[in-house]
Amino acid sequence: EVEERVETLLSELTLEQKVGQLNQLNADFATGTAVGDMDVEQGVLDGDVGSVLNVADLEEARAFQELAVEESDHGIPLVLALDVIHGHRTIFPIPLGEAASWNPEMAELSARVAATEAAASGVHWTFAPSVDVSRDARWGRVMEAAGEDPYLSAEISRARVRGFQGEDLAADDTVLACAKHYVGYGASEAGREYNTVDLSETALREVHLPPFEACLEAGVGSVMNAFSLYDRVPASSNEELVRELLRGELGFDDLVVSDWNSFGELLEHGVAGDLRDAARACIEAGSDVDMVSGAYATELVDLVEDGVVDESLVDRAVRRLLTVKGALGLFEDPYRYFDEERRSRRLLTDDHREAARDVARESQVLLKNEGGLLPLDDGGDVALVGGLADSATDMLGAWRAEGDPDDVTTLRATLADRVEGLTYVEGCDRDGAVSDEQLEAAVETVASADAAVVAVGERYSQSGEAASRAHVDLPGDQRALLEALVETGTPVAAVLFNGRPLAIDWAAERVPAILEAWFPGVEAGPAIADVLLGECDPSGRLPMSFPVTEGQIPVYYNRLRTGRPAEDADLTEPPSDPGEKYLSRYLDVPNEPLYAFGHGESYTTFAYTDVSLDAATMTADETLSVDVTVENTGDRAGTEVVQVYLRDPVGSRARPVRELVRFENVDLDAGASATVSFDLTAADLAFWTADDEYAAEPGEFEVQVGHAADDIAAVETFELVE
Ligand code: IFM
Repeated sequence: EVEERVETLLSELTLEQKVGQLNQLNADFATGTAVGDMDVEQGVLDGDVGSVLNVADLEEARAFQELAVEESDHGIPLVLALDVIHGHRTIFPIPLGEAASWNPEMAELSARVAATEAAASGVHWTFAPSVDVSRDARWGRVMEAAGEDPYLSAEISRARVRGFQGEDLAADDTVLACAKHYVGYGASEAGREYNTVDLSETALREVHLPPFEACLEAGVGSVMNAFSLYDRVPASSNEELVRELLRGELGFDDLVVSDWNSFGELLEHGVAGDLRDAARACIEAGSDVDMVSGAYATELVDLVEDGVVDESLVDRAVRRLLTVKGALGLFEDPYRYFDEERRSRRLLTDDHREAARDVARESQVLLKNEGGLLPLDDGGDVALVGGLADSATDMLGAWRAEGDPDDVTTLRATLADRVEGLTYVEGCDRDGAVSDEQLEAAVETVASADAAVVAVGERYSQSGEAASRAHVDLPGDQRALLEALVETGTPVAAVLFNGRPLAIDWAAERVPAILEAWFPGVEAGPAIADVLLGECDPSGRLPMSFPVTEGQIPVYYNRLRTGRPAEDADLTEPPSDPGEKYLSRYLDVPNEPLYAFGHGESYTTFAYTDVSLDAATMTADETLSVDVTVENTGDRAGTEVVQVYLRDPVGSRARPVRELVRFENVDLDAGASATVSFDLTAADLAFWTADDEYAAEPGEFEVQVGHAADDIAAVETFELVE
């Protein structure tokens, strides 16, 4: 029925009206230069706009929709879009933190809640999930996605799409999702935002594409072009990426939207001489909707009338957008998402807060816990230090949609309620500045306490879009503060708030306990207190390696081997033997990260007591079963994330040292054990071979099972036979 409606509409629209549908304008805050000269209201009234982003509230949304439906000539409803990235009003942990749960159910839950709230607030389309794989902690946008690994990213991204879109896009609690940024944006050189990208096809396919493929499998309804280049051509106008790979090979025939002015930026990239040329290149590549550049709006009609662009390309793009409008149910009722009563009933409910607390509990990663300092003992005097412990606004992180700092329960507020002998002292400002008076007061308070919890990290605005940092240590004077507090002799637990891996080797050496809390959202205080006070076991694991120092970046676990590996080199002595000197290593720091991918401690301990394969060989049509028995060897209940990696020792192209292929969260009471089984198929062994195809090559493989990428408990081998 939608199809028929769309075809009828298409046949009735003029060329100008069709081009208008492809034009997306911005109604509120801008994330780039304001471009184009079309007034949004006038544009909608004139029928020259098909979608609007960043509409402020329900009232404004309804007003825009009335203009489009009741006053424009064609009466076609608008699609309204917003970046709902980690919650709409009920803000969840930032996506990188959520990925640290290694629990796709948590990702689906948070996207589900976000969709329920966003759809009740007049939002039809979210520009999420962000699925950029990135190995560069300097890049601010690592906070928006799932980290450095293609497999973990794929599993988390797939779950997010399910959560946003549900079963039926026309339901009043689902929104259209958008997998972004297609593709390779996470490889921005030197982690500098909007910088150039130079990727091999193998890296594109093996590292950056898998999360997009997972989103397509989950039925994602739209994809956003990256700002970056692939093979020297911007993603928006890249025929190889969009027309051939995405649409042809991967079979995606739904909507592709540009990023903010990314069509216009073809001029800056120097691949189009003018906007006309940019518009031509983007429509020919298969990009449908133009976010704010005005290129389509000003150029496409002429391009068609001059016979340069075939009108069928415009029709195809408009058909995709109208199909989305139909799927959202907007033709039946353009106002179906604007119900004030439903909105007030749906936002920030107790259930939503509870869900946010669950996800935030599971997102935290215990980086170290010397002497079992955490959980804190009952009944002691605890000093809480740090402006971030009292900062509601920072807890929401970047991209907060309708998040409101007033909704946040801070760590200070929660601990004041739950720890009788708590004293709070600021110690440092939110931006990390420490005055002499602040330092003195903090040292005095900590010195007389039984334990100290010190909140340090970044402000929310120090990660996210346009927030790259060359130094990824603790900003300001926070290191000096922490060092002075450790010097008091009182045991110190640092709680980190940040949107990226930090280089904190000095803290890892001197601070007894470090809990990574990311930006945890509205339930920051309760969720962190649950872990600090031992009401739940910290079960998060790192989705991205923490570097020793920025000089190691990019540092990631699934690296390729080199011709001169330095795995066991002794760094304590300056190398004299040529066999030791001429290796792939640094003179001053190890090759290994400070904390590896998959790392995270628990309040209990786990042992891998048995790992077995059900066969020594498999063919491409068979399944290999890996059985893993894990035992909780401590005296408290806890959750282990069992991680299964594969190593392909010889391939037609160089293969990574290991690659994650499966994982599972296992809850175990003290002393209990459980066996988990994982089925592997040839698809898990496949890679982009020297024949330029995805295939598994016969030969020996290693299955590595363990606690983290650098903590493998058992290795078993098998052979893939023809
Ligand atoms: O969705 C975002 C994108 O990730 C970055 N540029 C702006 C878009 C719309 O806000």
